[in-house]
Amino acid sequence: MAQNWTPDSWRGKPILQVPEYPDASRLAAVESELRQNPPLVFIGEAQRLKSALARVADGEAFLLQGGDCAESFAEFSADNIRDTFRVLLQMAVVMTFGAACPIVKVGRLAGQFAKPRSSNFETVDGVELPSYRGDMVNAMEFSPEARIPDPDRMLKVYHQSASTLNLLRAFAQGGFANLDEVHRWTLSFVDKSAQGARFEQLAERIDECLAFMRACGLTPENIHQLRETEFYTSHEALLVNYEEALTREDTITPERAWYSTSAHMIWIGDRTRQPDGAHVEFMRGIGNPIGIKCGPSLDPDELLRLLDILNPAEEPGRITLIARMGHDKVHDGLPPLIRAVERAGRKVVWSCDPMHGNTITANGYKTRPVDRILAEVKGFFEVHQAEGTHAGGVHFEMTGQDVTECLGGAQEITGDVLADRYHTHCDPRLNGTQSLELAFLVADMLKARRGINGRSLAAAS
Ligand code: PEP
Ligand code: CO
Repeated sequence: MAQNWTPDSWRGKPILQVPEYPDASRLAAVESELRQNPPLVFIGEAQRLKSALARVADGEAFLLQGGDCAESFAEFSADNIRDTFRVLLQMAVVMTFGAACPIVKVGRLAGQFAKPRSSNFETVDGVELPSYRGDMVNAMEFSPEARIPDPDRMLKVYHQSASTLNLLRAFAQGGFANLDEVHRWTLSFVDKSAQGARFEQLAERIDECLAFMRACGLTPENIHQLRETEFYTSHEALLVNYEEALTREDTITPERAWYSTSAHMIWIGDRTRQPDGAHVEFMRGIGNPIGIKCGPSLDPDELLRLLDILNPAEEPGRITLIARMGHDKVHDGLPPLIRAVERAGRKVVWSCDPMHGNTITANGYKTRPVDRILAEVKGFFEVHQAEGTHAGGVHFEMTGQDVTECLGGAQEITGDVLADRYHTHCDPRLNGTQSLELAFLVADMLKARRGINGRSLAAAS
């Protein structure tokens, strides 16, 4: 167990990006209610994800982590959850089948409600108000009342996350994820696209494999891996009051470690990863697998310091480093971090967030060009190939809705149509078609890597 750590020891450290609640007694009452509530996930599940991530770090599997930039109360519906889940399933199947690689599936879902902001204030037509910090904290509407931090929102997040998780578990284990259903996962608007057609071809090949396996006596009825899937949840652990209240002690293992039960995996954002800060202090004491966002400003020595603090015992699968450099910085920014980690003999999962370093403004909208997103992923694979390390995963913002938030892609979304269906509560997300495009690229990169590694193994033998 971490030395001198308690679930509330973060309160004694400097903290960034959190709200100041005007009503301290209501805040305390909400925290106490959350502490009494049941955990959202089981500690055993978080431990299983950690083992799966240890396999990713060894290059034996690949991490697919995606979902909303910010979940919201307004967009909460069964259809939205189903559509996000089915696009993630499609992406996973493209990668599993296309690259013959096990995929560890983690949603940015069931808890992704708090947002770091570049400024504490937002000005519209000369009026300045506190920034919107996600539905967990305040409301998006531009009025002084809406922007007051309200602790009761944490309770609403807890209950919405519980319902979301319940549905996700039903989808993952109740038949929806059965490989026999693969044709039914395509959303109607994706159906007509080139990606939809490519997916359909792949689905037909899967059908053939399943028919062959059925003839051999292997069916979804007797092989549970064919009829259900493992799906995990994650979010940025930004509002530490919420995280602390959902931290529970593992009473089953003798170590009696503490775990966050708000999600299977949680991560530290690029703006709150100060080694002496409150967020790092909280994360060092919990046993979950954790992510660290690594932007261009992260110094290699500071990264090593973070690894010392957050994973002193070198626990396999504990750390996922999520690089978010930008398409133009990945080739220069990533190698120094990889080399430092390698020199220190540290084992981590390297994942690529191609979203947050590629945000631009077009026609007054915050957007991201799909070609830059794909270029960063490609660059990420190239750097790892050159360094002899594993490109272990991707981390991205997407939705199952037919939105027009990111520029380009096969649908050729232009600046003029961004306004048509721009629904995000924070950053621009890939829609279903653009997400599939990303999945096919990753599958191709994984396949190419397998080809190269296969050849070099053959050459060595
Ligand atoms: C995010 O993932 O939504 C985010 C804010 O990322 P970062 O911390 O990398 O900016
Ligand atoms: Co974002």
